[in-house]
Amino acid sequence: MYFLTCNSAPYNGAVSDAYILGIESSCDETAAAVVRSGEELISNVVYSQIATHQPYGGVVPELASREHLRAIVPVVRKALEDAGKTYDTIDAIAVTQGPGLAGALLVGVGFAKALAFAAGKPLIAVNHLEGHIHAVLLEERQRGRHDLEFPVLALVVSGGHTHLYLAERKETSWTYRNIGHTRDDAAGEAFDKVAKLLELGYPGGPSIDFLAQHGNPLAVKFPFAQIKHRDRNPKNRHTADERRTDFSYSGIKTAVLRYVEVHNMFASIHRRREATSFLAKPTSQDYLAACDRQTLDLVASFQRAVVDDLISKTLTAAIDYGVATLLVTGGVAANSELRSTFEVRAAEAGVEVLFPSRKLSTDNAAMIAAAAFPRYLAKEFATAEVSSEPALRLG
Ligand code: KG4
Ligand code: ZN
Repeated sequence: MYFLTCNSAPYNGAVSDAYILGIESSCDETAAAVVRSGEELISNVVYSQIATHQPYGGVVPELASREHLRAIVPVVRKALEDAGKTYDTIDAIAVTQGPGLAGALLVGVGFAKALAFAAGKPLIAVNHLEGHIHAVLLEERQRGRHDLEFPVLALVVSGGHTHLYLAERKETSWTYRNIGHTRDDAAGEAFDKVAKLLELGYPGGPSIDFLAQHGNPLAVKFPFAQIKHRDRNPKNRHTADERRTDFSYSGIKTAVLRYVEVHNMFASIHRRREATSFLAKPTSQDYLAACDRQTLDLVASFQRAVVDDLISKTLTAAIDYGVATLLVTGGVAANSELRSTFEVRAAEAGVEVLFPSRKLSTDNAAMIAAAAFPRYLAKEFATAEVSSEPALRLG
């Protein structure tokens, strides 16, 4: 194991303070933030489109693009205003290039390009997944923590991704090696789809997180089978060892559906729909009041199974690679049970585990501005030809 400073040595003295305006529009949040030198969050504005997509139980790409178009100017203005900055007094503009929804990314990238050109500022293209990793690093530096013990393993677990990356730092730049990924659904997608099936609101993660606390996680057994199916993506050429740390969440989603069918739970789902559909903005308490014990137990058991699987596979990888520090990030990292169980099991395995605050677990632009800082130092600026890349990979 070895130590590297994640801020002080190469960052200090390399430049005077750099204020980066970050812009994020990869999915259903329009966000802008100002971050100083990758270590201080100055402003953070997130406009969530939940109300727009809620009636559909999932993100509707066309609606997401329309909402980004509507929100991007006021969101960016507010982030600058909150930071006491203007287009003239920021040093660079960073934008999410991908991965994400094509139309949604286009809004952010198009806007950032125009802004950078008009304001005469450098533009930095950022990978959204790298952004999630830097959400943790930003907050650690903000707390005054400047060293991380390496090797570092990052679990990025969100609505669109479940990836494991070994992260390395050389001088100012970070590199990533993907050592595990989901073969089918992302973990957050499983939360959202199960919530949709059970009529528990959108997005499903926060709702299931709350409701699971009222159910028995041992009531329903969801054994996770070994992943046997071949990865259909030829780009994912993993060794046998790396396959041990691949994930799969479509099976548990189907198992929940089968449980609902076998136990004839459709009438209770229908009653819940009736009870909540007339409410303009149903709260977690409204869903709780509309849930019977069987539903709460099912939800708690589902969450326990996903959490156990995420933690077991991540710790297996951590041990295989002699990892000292784990970073757990992305929307699902906001999950209470995932956090508390990870703390315990990582401590047992002798690995330190770090999470972003809940606010920076889900999509935001502070993580984009923070991830851009090493590229700012390295003068890795985007050219006028830069375009959004919906299938952009990391590592
Ligand atoms: O990172 P994120 O905002 O967007 C993507 O990059 O995908 O993650 C959103 C995902 C959704 O699937 C949402 O249901 C899930 O994160 N999520 C949670 C929680 N909060 C958000 N899942 C479980 N527990 C939570 N508390
Ligand atoms: Zn995300």
